[in-house]
Amino acid sequence: MNSYKIVRKQPLNPEITLMSIEAPLIANKAKAGQFIILRVDEKGERIPLTVAATDKNEGSVTIIYQKVGASTMQLDTLNEGDCLHDFVGPLGTPTKIDGLKKVAVVGGGLGCAIAYPIAKALHEQGSEVDLIAGFRNKDLIILEDMMKNASTRLHLCTDDGSFGFHGFVTDKLRELIEAGNKYDEVFAIGPLPMMKFVCKLTKQYDIKTTVSMNPIMVDGTGMCGGCRVTVGGEMKFACVDGPDFDGHQVDFDEVIARNASYKEFEAQQKAHFCNLRGEIHG
Ligand code: FES
Repeated sequence: MNSYKIVRKQPLNPEITLMSIEAPLIANKAKAGQFIILRVDEKGERIPLTVAATDKNEGSVTIIYQKVGASTMQLDTLNEGDCLHDFVGPLGTPTKIDGLKKVAVVGGGLGCAIAYPIAKALHEQGSEVDLIAGFRNKDLIILEDMMKNASTRLHLCTDDGSFGFHGFVTDKLRELIEAGNKYDEVFAIGPLPMMKFVCKLTKQYDIKTTVSMNPIMVDGTGMCGGCRVTVGGEMKFACVDGPDFDGHQVDFDEVIARNASYKEFEAQQKAHFCNLRGEIHG
């Protein structure tokens, strides 16, 4: 039986953790934009996560996750030396980067964990890369040194102005475009509203834009339907057909509305179970 040993675990901020796992076959094959699916134990849920980095010498794959639900909380109970039950990949289509001379890569929050490997691959092939990374405040900034090394210029932005550029990533991107930077393509990865507004902006300037719909994946298997997205009027699945899509063709309003209804349903279920627990124990 394979064992996928955790060789590194490092908190990046109070919500986000970096973990490197021994998986030499995946480390040899994975390309920017691809993802893995892991399970903590036999009964664990499948968790799809982007390959944030690979180290072929160490034979390791690095993932970055946010502690948001039961599965990622369970993952976070493991430590260096512990093993994962499953670690499968690389999955998904690699990001297309060939021939691009000058690009802007835009990441928002945890999306920077996906923006980073794309920026790095572009930078390594010799593209000029403006990497724009946005966070709510300075305490939430992650991967600063890694992003600096993976770009020509790193533009850190915070919503509250506590570090770097005061404003949203779209404000910074507009500033760079209006300053005369001519991008062959823009890549955007982050919360759905952020990607929507990046695409609205780049459409005005007619700049090709690729978005990663990785953030809406649920189990990564093509069966749960959670990652459905309409692209150019056609139904696609982020985990099968993506995760990258032409941002100007994605129906963001539909995905945002569906995600909001899932969240509402989740909140209702949570409230229902809390009430039930209160009745049972109260
Ligand atoms: Fe379940 Fe794509 S994540 S179908």
